[in-house]
Amino acid sequence: MRGYVLTRYGGPDAMELRDLAEPQPGPGDVRIRVAAAGLNPVDFKLREGGLRPISPFRLPVVAGCEVAGTVDVVGPGPSRFAVGDRVYARVDKRRLGAFAEFVCVQQELVAAMPASIGFAEAAGLPLAGLTALQALRDELDVGPGTRLFIAGGAGGVGTLAIQLAKHFGAEVATTASARGEALVRRLGADRIIDYTREDFAGALQDFDAVLDLVVGATLEKSFRILRPGGRVVSIAGVPEPLTATKDLDAPPWVTAAFWVMSLGIRRRARKAKTSYRYLFMHPSGDGLRFLATLVDAGQLQPVVDSSYPFDRIAEAFAALEQGRAKGKIVVTF
Ligand SMILES: NC(=O)c1ccc[n+]([C@@H]2O[C@H](COP(=O)([O-])OP(=O)(O)OC[C@H]3O[C@@H](n4cnc5c(N)ncnc54)[C@H](OP(=O)(O)O)[C@@H]3O)[C@@H](O)[C@H]2O)c1
Repeated sequence: MRGYVLTRYGGPDAMELRDLAEPQPGPGDVRIRVAAAGLNPVDFKLREGGLRPISPFRLPVVAGCEVAGTVDVVGPGPSRFAVGDRVYARVDKRRLGAFAEFVCVQQELVAAMPASIGFAEAAGLPLAGLTALQALRDELDVGPGTRLFIAGGAGGVGTLAIQLAKHFGAEVATTASARGEALVRRLGADRIIDYTREDFAGALQDFDAVLDLVVGATLEKSFRILRPGGRVVSIAGVPEPLTATKDLDAPPWVTAAFWVMSLGIRRRARKAKTSYRYLFMHPSGDGLRFLATLVDAGQLQPVVDSSYPFDRIAEAFAALEQGRAKGKIVVTF
């Protein structure tokens, strides 16, 4: 089979298309014939090596975090899936393997994909959708009337976070440039601030919660728009001790390192009588079942920025690394 392989840590040429043996499913696995796979910034962050302390791999490894496709073989043991089922998954963080014609995934990370959409749309849902769900529902307790600011509403995570937050009943303000404004409006954002023209920190106040999706200065400014008791969850800022103990199976030195790295931002949160959390999303079949129900009920719409044939995956990565995607970039087989 063909696979896109991380051969070493480095720039774009550290990944290459190779012919590989097909993976064989172990007990509790299903093997998925991949129809489409989603690209995510974490794919190039892994390639660059910055995540090595928390996500070490023995290279070479087939890259890729999320897929949609058809169950091709069921591994030994009891199974909730049958050959031919249309499924989607955020694959195991320690195994990866989504950028290939076949991938083996533990069944508890897999769910039936939404019946109302195609493979390309489904492939972009697992990682960004689970991230948005875990941040909004599990960390920020977003519910009816929550005044929520989403920093960066137009990308892969943002387009799903806006819709989920509206589904939970929140009032949503977000940032987008002129390139993304119409999109985030259509997805339900109540207030849109063009970050290239206006500083959200001067425009918003008394918010209950912030979901920070943007690398850079937005995180520090987020505390200025919160009421006392408000909460910030970031997925793009600085990891903190709970990230290590709750989200990662990390050794104590990682917790200590995150404690030191986040000292300034935690102090900033305390000063504003608010709280700060950095979330690393986790794969979850249950979460994907929840998202599929929403999609099929017409309450969550995947947004695909662009779709590339698998043999042009290097071009898809070049587009992703521009950082301008409106929704998700996917590759199809
Ligand atoms: N911790 C976790 O578990 C986790 C999970 C998923 C993602 N992440 C991280 O979260 C971040 C977002 O991921 P993603 O997949 O949504 O990325 P993405 O799709 O690549 O985001 C691109 C979008 O961000 C917008 N953007 C860029 N700079 C902005 C700014 N200063 N203010 C507002 N919008 C801005 C761009 O809009 P314009 O074209 O208008 O600039 C573009 O539409 C990445 O850093 C990713 O690594 C972390």
